[in-house]
Amino acid sequence: MEILHISAECYPVAKVGGLADVVGALPKYQVAAGEIAKVVIPAYRLPFFFDHHFETVHQGGIWIGNQWFHFNVLKESTNVLGFDLYLVDIPGLLDHGQVYGLYNDMERFLGFQVAVLDWVNEWKHLPDVLHCHDHHTGLIPFLAQYAYKYSHLKNIPSVLTIHNAQYQGQFGWDRIYMLPSFDLWKSGLLDWGGAINPLAAGIKCAWKVNTVSPGYMQELLEQANGLEELLRMESRKCSGILNGIDTEVWNPATDTYLYSHFSMKKDLVTGKAANKAELCEAYNLDQELPLFVFIGRLVNDKGADLLPGIIYKALQDHEGELNFMVLGSGDDSIAYHLDQLKHIYPRGYCFYKGYNEALSHQLYAGADFLLMPSRVEPCGLNQMYALRYGTMPLVRKTGGLKDTVIDIGDKGAGITFLHPSVWDVSYAIKRALEVYKDDKLFQNYRVKMMSIDHSWNQAAKEYINLYSSLKY
Ligand code: ADP
Ligand code: GLC
Repeated sequence: MEILHISAECYPVAKVGGLADVVGALPKYQVAAGEIAKVVIPAYRLPFFFDHHFETVHQGGIWIGNQWFHFNVLKESTNVLGFDLYLVDIPGLLDHGQVYGLYNDMERFLGFQVAVLDWVNEWKHLPDVLHCHDHHTGLIPFLAQYAYKYSHLKNIPSVLTIHNAQYQGQFGWDRIYMLPSFDLWKSGLLDWGGAINPLAAGIKCAWKVNTVSPGYMQELLEQANGLEELLRMESRKCSGILNGIDTEVWNPATDTYLYSHFSMKKDLVTGKAANKAELCEAYNLDQELPLFVFIGRLVNDKGADLLPGIIYKALQDHEGELNFMVLGSGDDSIAYHLDQLKHIYPRGYCFYKGYNEALSHQLYAGADFLLMPSRVEPCGLNQMYALRYGTMPLVRKTGGLKDTVIDIGDKGAGITFLHPSVWDVSYAIKRALEVYKDDKLFQNYRVKMMSIDHSWNQAAKEYINLYSSLKY
């Protein structure tokens, strides 16, 4: 089976969050399972683009409204990622060093989707599945079926994976002229709530739709930022498939970002301690005390707005008993409050503002506890990385967190809580400190965490089954 993944991100080429990790790993596991998996993303001007060699495999031109753009499809020459990687280069549209957040994102991602379809339209052997990820590729199932130009593609099955239903990519009907001409009788398929909504169009037109955990699928049927009714109507073609993690990239025994390597069987205690010692030295933390960390986007969905209150209370209630470190970027007002805390707690607390891949690995390895007070978490990968690195996750019971972390009270290896509130988290921290005090017990939990298999092997099979269920 030949699968073409179409996405805005792919690790290590372009990463903003977990979408990149998924698109950089799932195809690798699909290839290992004997399938042909290819990935196409925009050719952003990021380090990977400059550091690797590409050959041009296709050239074409597209209209976005009344503007014409020339584009190239580039293929990475050495197969360094373990699958074929293609980049769509559209000078004047996609040649920036930024993934999201430009004034013309709508045109950029529309251009990307149209260029991908133009290119696939030329293939001699069409792919068996177009696997679209999130709203940036949500128009593809519609255009493949109803744009006149792509009638050749209309029978290719498509899958839409919803990584986060909060972002839908809506734009006004006044921009309809920018789309390639299509059967106007089908216009209603683009509409949701009076706007063109790429995620809604994807849900309506993709042959199958899935979210990145079963828990999140259930939640979306109740609340999906306005799409719940649509999802309920389409529920027969929807399912939840829990993400996995790339256990080659995320392996504490070989991870090149770490100061010291360890595994469940070798150097677990000393390896973790060495990583923690380096971190504490570098960031003015106390090596003797348990280290709690938060890694992620500073947005309300992640519960990041609660962090200043959580940390303040934790350091007040347990003065001299714990360290807290935050790695993240996003909302400026959250960052401001996290910065202010440094004046109150110059020692035992650190806020690293920004995105730092290496530091994230070092934190998963050196920390004792990882906090995720998410309000919404479609899957969440951090908690699985933490488990793999012997760091106990403290998570709110929601979405994928509920599906991946079992509380120690229920024979699991993490700590869960119900509400995204300072009080619930404070209680979770109190429980964590009690577990930490019992050295032997805590080491046993570490072994238990690290023995859980969250690799993509299982999910890769589930995706193959999903593709196989698509009928031509
Ligand atoms: P989301 O995609 O919603 O941000 P996920 O848990 O799926 O959340 O994935 C987040 C990914 O981004 C993980 O690989 C995490 O380690 C990484 N990450 C998030 N924030 C940062 C940061 N500031 N620096 C480095 N890595 C980060
Ligand atoms: C989104 C979600 C996150 C999920 C990731 C990968 O960014 O917010 O929960 O893990 O996609 O699917």
